[in-house]
Amino acid sequence: MCGIVAYLGKKAAQPILVEGLKRLEYRGYDSAGVALMGSGNIRIRKTSGRIDALEGILCEPDVTETFGIGHTRWATHGEPNTVNAHPHLDYTGKIAVVHNGIVENYGTLKTWLQNEGVEFVSETDTEVITNLIGFFYLNCRDDEQQSPPNGQNKFEWAVQRALRELYGTFGLAIICSDFPNMLIGAKKGSPLILGLGENEYILASDAAAIVEHTTQAIYLADDEMVTVGPDGFHTKTIGNITVSKDLQQIEFSLEQIELGGFEHHMLKEIFEQPRSLKTCMGGRIDGRNHRIKLGGIASYLRDLTRTRRLILTACGTAFHAGLVGEFLFEQLARIPAETEYASEFRYRNPIIEDRTVVVAISQSGETLDTLAAVEEAKERGARVLGIVNVVGSSIARATDAGIYLHAGPEIGVASTKAFTAQVAVLTMLAIELGRRKHISSEQADRHIDELSQIPDKIDTILTQSDQIKEIAAANVDKNNWLFLGRGFNYPVALEGALKLKEISYIHAEGLPAAEMKHGPIALIADGMPAVFIATSGPQYDKIMGNIAEVRARGGRIIVVATEGDENIAQHADHLIMIPDAPEFLQPMLAVVPLQLLAYHAAVLRGHDVDKPRNLAKSVTVE
Ligand code: AGP
Ligand code: GLU
Repeated sequence: MCGIVAYLGKKAAQPILVEGLKRLEYRGYDSAGVALMGSGNIRIRKTSGRIDALEGILCEPDVTETFGIGHTRWATHGEPNTVNAHPHLDYTGKIAVVHNGIVENYGTLKTWLQNEGVEFVSETDTEVITNLIGFFYLNCRDDEQQSPPNGQNKFEWAVQRALRELYGTFGLAIICSDFPNMLIGAKKGSPLILGLGENEYILASDAAAIVEHTTQAIYLADDEMVTVGPDGFHTKTIGNITVSKDLQQIEFSLEQIELGGFEHHMLKEIFEQPRSLKTCMGGRIDGRNHRIKLGGIASYLRDLTRTRRLILTACGTAFHAGLVGEFLFEQLARIPAETEYASEFRYRNPIIEDRTVVVAISQSGETLDTLAAVEEAKERGARVLGIVNVVGSSIARATDAGIYLHAGPEIGVASTKAFTAQVAVLTMLAIELGRRKHISSEQADRHIDELSQIPDKIDTILTQSDQIKEIAAANVDKNNWLFLGRGFNYPVALEGALKLKEISYIHAEGLPAAEMKHGPIALIADGMPAVFIATSGPQYDKIMGNIAEVRARGGRIIVVATEGDENIAQHADHLIMIPDAPEFLQPMLAVVPLQLLAYHAAVLRGHDVDKPRNLAKSVTVE
């Protein structure tokens, strides 16, 4: 996600845009820019880096324009450099756009426009939007297909005509030099709010950029647009049907707005997971044709299909996602796979044979151990792919190719939505490789359908946050916890333990449940919390045995189980039920209660959840 802001009024627009972008910087911060409307021309200033880098280039004196748009970027398509920064000007030089979202069909549209002679300067999907508007604006003719209905101006018509071609999400602010007093906003899947001031308007991604100017606003709904001009504003659907919008009062404080009403970024990001997973899978899962398209590695899919061995390497939470990936590649694609801590891999004189592929996983893309593992693997001749969240990060640039998470900025130090997005990407890759090797199309179709249901299933788990808070409260005084799982849920047990450790400072250990009898069961003391992931699957009966072992020794049993399991309640002191799913998809579901358990325990212990002691969001040291 990123931040967009637009101002149309009587004051100098530039300082208002810059201040507004600062309020939105938490939404994305790899590059920024503004476009100011002069008399019949648009002046664009943009740069890579944060808002202060933009301020550094906005040093012209007496900037008097009272109308403009601005953007602070979180790149999804195209390196975070100056050329790819927003605003984007179309090929005619008349249309400027800032965009929050992803154009899923940008490749097809870009090719079509290029075949029409349109030249592109950036790698972004956004430039397709601005050139598409410019194309229809320039080619607006009087035939019934390409001309505005009676009375509608060409600019507004061209915007509507272009947006009809887009698949994906957008929050847009659009200006045209032929209409120096007209601002258009349009929304689908990304937020967009119009603030109504005294003879001035502020359009923005969220109220943080509006609230210091006015608390009166209208919130656009999906497939709606607003046209602001000298005679006020008009709201309509992108299909040109007038809609009336209620005036809303912005009541949140600035701090609350940045947190989206949540108390901490971590909780916001836990609750963002249905949406971040939909964005992660959007444009990659073609439900209609039951295909998975992973553009970033398309040219390596043959290599991957023929690979003899996959090595997944990462640190921390990303390592746990890699461990799920190991099981996915073996089960679904029958490819030998292993997961290595990057810090160990880089020093262990690893064996890299012919047709070995290394997959580096990292949210930040800056973890030094993982970056060093990538360099080590490359030097030894491996094909190296990356699964990264931050576009243009060091690890993304160091790998031969990769798949971006598209999970949006993860601000909380404890990684949550990045974990589920990493697992989703690994799942899509494993299904696609399996389909190319031995999975039947029907089986692949089923897997894709089941994967597509995960975001909604997470939604139902999130409704249990208050119950999970009570479980945390009943056990928060205990200083030693165990987390236990089997099969695909063994890595989830490790992840649950890490979450609890890093933000509540409670000592916790994750284990394969069967390992209990090989030593750790000696730890069980009266009332010691043992969290079991006992969801449906081939090892259910075995894990019930492990639960009995711990219970017999006085342990306190907290269980994550599958809805409809009527047997489990009698064996558990605390029970969290999650929707059923095939075992290979359960990690994205089973981890959510553990994220919430850790979060509530940390809050109950009074800790700084978003910035836990001794930790950094990105570990760029050895
Ligand atoms: C996870 O909650 C921690 N913040 C930490 O273990 C993290 O996963 C690890 O440092 C790897 O970070 P990366 O994904 O950015 O490479
Ligand atoms: N997809 C656009 C880009 O990569 C916008 C990204 C965003 O919403 O942050 O520039």
